Amino acid sequence: MSPPNPNPLDPDDLEKARDAALDAFSAVAVLADLPAAKTAHLGDRAPILLARRSLGTLPSTERAEAGKRVNVVLQAVQASYDARKAELEAERDARVLAEESVDVTVLPDRLPVGARHPLTTIQERIEDVFVAMGWEVAEGPEVEHEWFNFDALNFGRDHPAREMQDTLFVAPEGSGLVLRTHTSPVQIRSLLDRELPIYVICPGRTYRADALDATHSPVFSQVEGLVVDEGITMAHLRGALDHFAAAMFGEGMRTRLRPSYFPFTEPSAELDLQCFECRGASAEPGGEPCRVCSSEGWIEWGGCGMVNPAVLRACGVDPERYSGFAFGMGIERTLMFRHGVTDIRDFYEGDQRFTLPFGMEA
Ligand code: FA5
Repeated sequence: MSPPNPNPLDPDDLEKARDAALDAFSAVAVLADLPAAKTAHLGDRAPILLARRSLGTLPSTERAEAGKRVNVVLQAVQASYDARKAELEAERDARVLAEESVDVTVLPDRLPVGARHPLTTIQERIEDVFVAMGWEVAEGPEVEHEWFNFDALNFGRDHPAREMQDTLFVAPEGSGLVLRTHTSPVQIRSLLDRELPIYVICPGRTYRADALDATHSPVFSQVEGLVVDEGITMAHLRGALDHFAAAMFGEGMRTRLRPSYFPFTEPSAELDLQCFECRGASAEPGGEPCRVCSSEGWIEWGGCGMVNPAVLRACGVDPERYSGFAFGMGIERTLMFRHGVTDIRDFYEGDQRFTLPFGMEA
């Protein structure tokens, strides 16, 4: 209930109204509540303001005295309000400063953000290069049947690659299963599963009984490419490889095809890249020796060739009508050339200082 209007002629009345206002202001605990107290005690309808308004109705002999008294009270109330407001504002500022203060000496407690492994991002990048040309991504199992890994690819029964030093066999003996030694069995799976023509790219993990050293690992990744269509020639292979090399290493990267042998391609070639370290200079007369390419000026990137008609036949494709090319590159080796990494083991050791900068890639 609001206090009765003070009689401006009664000093007690006015003091009561003043004390009520002073008590109300000091009872306000937070700045947000102060406006309501102000309206109650200093607003148009506040008792003291109503008392001032009623001065006009007093006889002129009493008006001056009463007016002075009302003004003294009003000033006291106003001063009390101003003081409380300043106090509450100071309290609020101190609280905000304390709450929002930043201790710049505290060590960050953010959880480290994981990064994608460079082998994953490069595989996606490679897929993008070929998908942009309309090729499809194909997959195959890592535990593979010997028939896909060797027989259908025209490896003879006693081809040295089948022996223990190269191939990791899956127990029990005679299971016919191996850890795939290359991604080429996906060629066979694609030829058997897909409609012709075929344009596929297949990145994936491969296994060999190789010792771990700076350039070899028993578990590594390859990317296989296979095209089978009418009228495919070695020129198409060369064009696809040059495009791939330019997408990986930039325009102007020199490549060369060196005659080689794979049972599943005929003719076959190794694809070499000009050494990323010496750019071929070490092979020139008088050139500084190069550790990366053993001063040969070139480094092997992968194998390739025209699909052997025997492979097409094994998959029920007529080699009189269709021809094709295939290639298979090491993915770790691609990353090594691309980023000047000289030790393949860096990819597998899980040290974030090595992998993080790659992981920041889009
Ligand atoms: C093959 O594996 C063939 N399948 C490639 C192929 C595909 C030829 C299609 C023709 C047609 P090769 O054994 O040379 O070829 O291996 C290909 C690439 O895999 C090598 O050039 C190298 O880049 C990579 N590579 C091979 N062994 C290892 C290893 N132990 N560690 C890391 N990379 C390896």
